[in-house]
Amino acid sequence: MMQVEKIRQEFPELSESVYGKPLVYLDNAATAQRPRSVIAKWTEMSAKYNANLHRAVHRIADVATAEYEATRDAVRAYLNAGCREEILFTSGTTASINLVAFSFGEAFVGAGDEIIVCESEHHSDIVPWQMLCERKGAVVKVLPVDDSGHLRLDLLPGLLTPRTRLLCVAQISNVLGLKNPVKEIVNICHSNNCCVLVDGAQGIVHDRVDVRDLDCDFYAFSGHKIYAAPGTGVLYGRRSLLEQMPPYMGGGEMIGTVRWTGTTYAPLPQKFEAGTQNIAGTPTLRPALEMAEQLRDPGIEAETERVKEFMLNALQQDPRIRLYGVPRTEDEKIPLFSFSVEHCHHEDLAMILDKMGIAVRSGQMCAEPLMDRFGVTGMLRVSFAPYNTLQEAEYFIASLGKAIKMLE
Ligand SMILES: Cc1ncc(COP(=O)(O)O)c(C=O)c1O
Repeated sequence: MMQVEKIRQEFPELSESVYGKPLVYLDNAATAQRPRSVIAKWTEMSAKYNANLHRAVHRIADVATAEYEATRDAVRAYLNAGCREEILFTSGTTASINLVAFSFGEAFVGAGDEIIVCESEHHSDIVPWQMLCERKGAVVKVLPVDDSGHLRLDLLPGLLTPRTRLLCVAQISNVLGLKNPVKEIVNICHSNNCCVLVDGAQGIVHDRVDVRDLDCDFYAFSGHKIYAAPGTGVLYGRRSLLEQMPPYMGGGEMIGTVRWTGTTYAPLPQKFEAGTQNIAGTPTLRPALEMAEQLRDPGIEAETERVKEFMLNALQQDPRIRLYGVPRTEDEKIPLFSFSVEHCHHEDLAMILDKMGIAVRSGQMCAEPLMDRFGVTGMLRVSFAPYNTLQEAEYFIASLGKAIKMLE
């Protein structure tokens, strides 16, 4: 069994101080900290193997290409995708979703067709669909959440029609921290001939993901939320769909032949990877996913459970606090808590907490429609990673109490 204190030493940022206080980093849903193994890979690729991929015959280009393609194999295995052609590298979740919105949209969406988007989605899983629908004369339909933040699955069959082409759902909302019943949603959608895109930006961190078991058609995630370098991302796509979809961007390396009379495209996955890729960043996904595996240790998971239980109790017992994303069972909640405090502005609380050394998120969290749903202009969010401790959670709750007092 591993101890949290030991693994923390692998993440240099966690030993930093702010305003003379030890940093308590509780903004992990925005971006996670990076372990030494990721920093080392990033540095090694930058210092020793900086050459463009798939092009030259020289030695360092060979190594850089081998690293990049070995990363594709590692991601395939991690997601249990059927083949490496189904793994596309992008710059992040946003880029992955935009790729699908354009290319799936070109291939399969026409005037009068429908896309279902869940009410709790991040803007990056809303706006690309609005843009697609505007371009094609298609319609965005919304699957709402109830007062506790659960998706209204009972309304889904009524929303699906023969014109529904795709449903877009976050595996875990970045605001509510509830695990959505993705498998059930996929089942319902597939029996209506509707494809499903899963935004896994948060889900990849907190769940063991198996895209074949989920049976989703697309799965998008960002490297930086799972300990890798920023500007890295993945799109898993079902091969039979990717093959029918046109390229998203044109440029170098995505072609077969280019003539003035016409161009042919490279096979998967290159067809969707135009231009110079993230040479140093993408290979960091390998040590990052290894770290994610290492963090699924019973000792560390037990500490996360203690944090979750403590936080849920503390927040739910305080009558001044309104928690958004109230779980029915503790299992369906990740250690992410968004809430508002009576008579206190979230921004003021966040600024006071910052002075106490605590990094939290405040505002709309890229989910304005969800803020409207709950009738607030913003929330305060604390999101824990497996390297956070119960002691940090206790310090947070004590500091929140002090901050509230200052504003009363
Ligand atoms: C659920 C969800 N979807 C999408 C995104 C966008 O990710 P990125 O900015 O890395 O593309 C985020 C990031 O906060 C997220 O939490």
